[in-house]
Amino acid sequence: MTNLHVVILAAGKGTRMKSAVSKVVHPLAGRPLIEHVIRTAAVLEPATITVVVGHGADDVRAALANWPNVRFVVQSPQLGTGHALLQTEPVLAGQQGRVLLLYGDVPLLTVDTLRQLLDRHQSTSAWLTVLTATVPDPYGYGRIIRDQGRIVRIVEERDAGEGEHAIREINSGIYVFELDGLFGALRSLATDNAQGEYYLTDLVAGSVREGRRVETLPIADHVEVRGVNTRVDLAELTRVLRDRTRRRLMLAGVTLENPDSVYVDDGVEIGEDTVIGPNVVLSGATRLGPGCRIGPGTRITDSVLGAGVTVLDHCVIVQSTIDDGCTLGPFAHLRPESRLGAGARVGNFVELKKTTLGPNSKANHLAYLGDAVIGANVNIGAGVITCNYDGVSKHQTRIDDGVFVGSDSQLVAPVHVGPGAYVAAGSTITRDVPPGSLAVARSHQINKDGWAERRASRLKDKDKAR
Ligand code: UD1
Ligand code: CA
Repeated sequence: MTNLHVVILAAGKGTRMKSAVSKVVHPLAGRPLIEHVIRTAAVLEPATITVVVGHGADDVRAALANWPNVRFVVQSPQLGTGHALLQTEPVLAGQQGRVLLLYGDVPLLTVDTLRQLLDRHQSTSAWLTVLTATVPDPYGYGRIIRDQGRIVRIVEERDAGEGEHAIREINSGIYVFELDGLFGALRSLATDNAQGEYYLTDLVAGSVREGRRVETLPIADHVEVRGVNTRVDLAELTRVLRDRTRRRLMLAGVTLENPDSVYVDDGVEIGEDTVIGPNVVLSGATRLGPGCRIGPGTRITDSVLGAGVTVLDHCVIVQSTIDDGCTLGPFAHLRPESRLGAGARVGNFVELKKTTLGPNSKANHLAYLGDAVIGANVNIGAGVITCNYDGVSKHQTRIDDGVFVGSDSQLVAPVHVGPGAYVAAGSTITRDVPPGSLAVARSHQINKDGWAERRASRLKDKDKAR
């Protein structure tokens, strides 16, 4: 929408969060509060997005580093919501169209609602349109005062008079304004109220007085306009958002065996017929393909899984890529930059770090594979360890296609095992192993015939001598 300018207020202190960082950067289901607002607004393709910052401005800028088109204006000191919007004058004066005003701490608004608000504004040729909601407990909100059904003013909690406290239709704080005349009107706001602030809400009465049309859009689901003031609000909104995400996934063909116990971040994508067990946490930029099974208690962060991957109970997978048909766990740990080729298997108590395990290779039990590049069809025996760290730097282990590494072997990096080679169980490999050869690096076995019997009679003789 070329004539739409989004402004997001985020200069307030958020005192009740009791936090060293700005309220709007606190994460809600994996994203900063304000990013939820920006993502929703961005769907409308506005001409500009401007964020008004003040307290914790640097936190807010840092949290939005991935949004290069978002502009910032600083409000200092913070003299109220009317004063906050006035700070956008240098970037918006002279522009055509209208402003959609949002709050950085009201993260659950949907694109649908914003579209309805803009439609109402347009179809009624209003100068100002207010999004309102009827809530069970209106305490703390501005109340909508109507006269014969039409909005005439908004009164804040602390300024409300006799009878006005009982009004349950509240101001969401979300509005659409025509730019034409906006900054003049903001400059004429006064501070004759209980908080001594420039109230944006006073534009309603001012507009009605001057004959500019003011409209409202009452919203059906008041949860959408809930703001975050405390960490209790944050937890409640998190639950709402998680519910939305779980519903979205289930309707898209994902089975959640115990939905309430599954935590899925907002941006996670999951293919059809994937089954998620109880107590699974899927976070960040995670994508799961179709037909996967994710066992109870598993956590997957910023990782991509192909189709038909089975992850058994209690695995931790971080910043890794897993191709089709792999099997992991129980109790496997994939640390950042690990990659499993199609059909690979990683079993219990196996840890990978910055390691590629090629197609159909297996590391089924008790192994540590770090900084390793492992080819296809390799068998890593139980208890194998890549010794990648010499106390100063990390070194690479290369294990080529078709290699068999016997149980309880150590590979002291840097070291290279050529294709088709065998490493005998219990070996400590410190030199490269040529293709197709057998490396044995352990002491020879000696068998002493009849030793046990000789020992027994020796002990008996000693006993008699005493
Ligand atoms: C405001 C509304 C109230 C509405 C409520 C909805 C006013 C006067 N009142 O009240 O009618 O019901 O929101 O949540 O507008 N902010 C700034 N700079 C400032 C002051 C505030 O950027 O100087 C930002 C805050 O960071 C916050 C938003 O504006 O994101 C709302 O401010 P807040 O102080 O919470 O307003 P309320 O008193 O809740
Ligand atoms: Ca508020």
